[in-house]
Amino acid sequence: DIQIRELYRNTDAYADKEVLIRGWVRTNRSSNKFGFIELNDGSFFKSVQIVYEQDGIENFDKIAKAPIAAALMVRGTLVRTPEAKQPFEIKAKEVVIEAGADADYPLQKKRHSLEFLREIAHLRPRSNTFSAVFRVRSLVAYAIHQFFQEQNFVYVHTPIVTGSDCEGAGEMFRITTLDMENPPRTEDGKIDYSQDFFGKETSLTVSGQLEAETFALAFRNVYTFGPTFRAENSNTARHASEFWMIEPEVAFADLTDNMDLAEAMIKYIIHYVLENAPEEMEFFNSFVDKGLIDRLTNIISNDFARISYTEAVDLLLQSGKEFQYPVEWGIDLQTEHERYITEEIFKKPVFVTDYPKEIKAFYMRLNDDNKTVAACDLLVPGVGEIIGGSQREERYDVLVARMKELGLKEEDYWWYMDLRKYGGVKHAGYGLGFERIIMYVTGMGNIRDVLPFPRTPKTAEF
Ligand code: 4AD
Ligand code: MG
Repeated sequence: DIQIRELYRNTDAYADKEVLIRGWVRTNRSSNKFGFIELNDGSFFKSVQIVYEQDGIENFDKIAKAPIAAALMVRGTLVRTPEAKQPFEIKAKEVVIEAGADADYPLQKKRHSLEFLREIAHLRPRSNTFSAVFRVRSLVAYAIHQFFQEQNFVYVHTPIVTGSDCEGAGEMFRITTLDMENPPRTEDGKIDYSQDFFGKETSLTVSGQLEAETFALAFRNVYTFGPTFRAENSNTARHASEFWMIEPEVAFADLTDNMDLAEAMIKYIIHYVLENAPEEMEFFNSFVDKGLIDRLTNIISNDFARISYTEAVDLLLQSGKEFQYPVEWGIDLQTEHERYITEEIFKKPVFVTDYPKEIKAFYMRLNDDNKTVAACDLLVPGVGEIIGGSQREERYDVLVARMKELGLKEEDYWWYMDLRKYGGVKHAGYGLGFERIIMYVTGMGNIRDVLPFPRTPKTAEF
């Protein structure tokens, strides 16, 4: 059989020829002489119109009753219909019902709200919007691998189960084999994790960065692409408890190299989807986010802005705008600030660098001012932060001092400290939130609608 995507893209090659397709009924209406079925096979968010006639197929009465969601095999002739809405249709010669469907199928022909579709995450891939979203998600994953592989980066699989908290934010999902209703305790009353399966306290990873650093100091250029988990209770449209992250890590690189790589990667991804998913992008442009394609096209051909945190704070103060969360040097930038900077001031992606050390993680390289660290966040219009990165602290003594300040125990990070002892050259990396880049290129406004099975506080149905 042939994919519907192929029929749309190469219609000329199939005109007036016999084709065989398989898919599911989206709609079916008929009179007593002929009928129309919209058939979708998932290869494309658009369906194909099947025309069947009393005189053309032997089981007309049965096909006329084929319900929505039934699976069909259709053999017929592709006929161009230049004057109609669809560029072609298929005149059926044979239609076989391969699977029926119950009448209470929830996805009827009308437009459903995204909220309703979230409740049926197992069926929503069958709707046009989610067909387009998840195909683009797949393509972007491929583009990212291609971007790094073309430059000889090594793909590293970092652990999902880990004994260290990379971000130091305490937002880890614990995993344990201990009976937590009645856990074994040490003499001083603490839970005795030495009796746990792993012999210590472990969690799901919040980031593969620390492990990626070990590989960067062997391979120079590496990247991870895997699931990460955060038990942050922020019920926003941009946070999920389980999300995917891409974390390149590059030895002999500084903060500027890091931003150059991130900018090239974002442009590569955008270029790739515009090139390889033109129909899906057209769909988002028409139905999800008007002007999306123009905006994305502009991004490829212009430099991203780069400003320091201190400059960002000045710009926010000078704006005279009343923010819900007041601005002063030292605050962590909130979504409203991030969006103001990218949407109102620059109207394009902006790197913000050199944040106060107090609001960033222990591994970031301390700047000469002793107040800020060599961090870079990438903020984009519509979404806010999509990348967080930094140059890493490669100086053993400075790192130790920083960890002391934060109450981190050196012995817990002994392997990480070793990297600073043996050829610990300067290095840098960043984390791209995979769902955030999907939101950015599709215009979808909620992270729950770009994750196949979103995990957010109080939701893990599947
Ligand atoms: O800024 P974050 O926390 O940085 C790190 O984890 C570093 N270890 C990355 C590195 O330098 N290798 O997270 C990186 C990105 C964010 O910019 C955001 O896009 C995404 O991950 N992210 C989330 N996406 C969805 N839901 C959440 N709860 C997210 N938390 C972070
Ligand atoms: Mg961040």
